[in-house]
Amino acid sequence: MTDPSSNNAQPAQASEPLVRIRGLTAGYVSGIDIIHDIDLELTADEIVTIIGPNGAGKSTLMKGLMGALPYVTGERYLAGQNVSDLDAPRMVAAGVGYVPQRENVFASLSIRENLEMGGYRRRGDLEQRIEEVLDMFPALRERPRERASRLSGGQRQMLAIARALMLDPQLLCLDEPTASLSPAARVEIFERVSGIHAAGVGVLLVEQNATEALGWSDRGVVMVNGEKALETSAEEMLASGDVGRLFLGRGENTDDPDQTPAAPGEA
Ligand SMILES: Nc1ncnc2c1ncn2[C@@H]1O[C@H](COP(=O)(O)OP(=O)(O)OP(=O)(O)O)[C@@H](O)[C@H]1O
Ligand SMILES: [Mg+2]
Repeated sequence: MTDPSSNNAQPAQASEPLVRIRGLTAGYVSGIDIIHDIDLELTADEIVTIIGPNGAGKSTLMKGLMGALPYVTGERYLAGQNVSDLDAPRMVAAGVGYVPQRENVFASLSIRENLEMGGYRRRGDLEQRIEEVLDMFPALRERPRERASRLSGGQRQMLAIARALMLDPQLLCLDEPTASLSPAARVEIFERVSGIHAAGVGVLLVEQNATEALGWSDRGVVMVNGEKALETSAEEMLASGDVGRLFLGRGENTDDPDQTPAAPGEA
């Protein structure tokens, strides 16, 4: 059998989704599962956004997909290859870029050094890839020697995404890339991610800025209490009164009477 982590350039088979998860169950401590029996698929032409309340298990699901947890069971496939036994470094090598929710850049290193770290496996073409990635994030080009700790929040997230792109992944997993950013910085991040996606990279997002994120997405997944509570097209999710009220912070008074959710107790 070939080692899936040895080649990050294999495109997904037409018949196979880019990602297929079956029965993923995971946690941090033996015997205490945080996410339960999750099935999820994503094709290369999709942006899929996971939403849900704090502590629902969104980050745990992403870490489980990455093999970045001590306790993970279930099956994971990447472009048809079984990657259930791969840990996070090998998932990265297999073609998955991952930007964690926290500590996603090396704060004491420069922009350039962060990109070099992201491209650690490249041989010979590191400079070329740094140039390509900087073309995607021109703001990072201006001060390559600036320490990451001195960047604005938006620039730091861009650097984190740029670092994750250094190995030219097939799939990009972003855990709350717009958290704490200004509206303008959020739009910039979503625009860049959309551009990366248009170039052929599947995108799995976790977002608290749910309405905005769903506006850029094809599909939405709602996580509640460690379980997948709902999965629909992003369009349907945005139009759903219940989802709006429960997860998108939309009040009872919507402009569209069809979307006004039923009061508690009503059918
Ligand atoms: N390192 C850890 N060790 C033990 N338990 C953890 C750890 N990280 C998270 N948890 C627990 O797992 C559960 C799910 O956390 P997770 O971070 O996946 O939620 P989340 O949906 O990403 O929330 P948020 O929106 O706040 O980021 C929570 O009960 C949390 O306390
Ligand atoms: Mg989280």
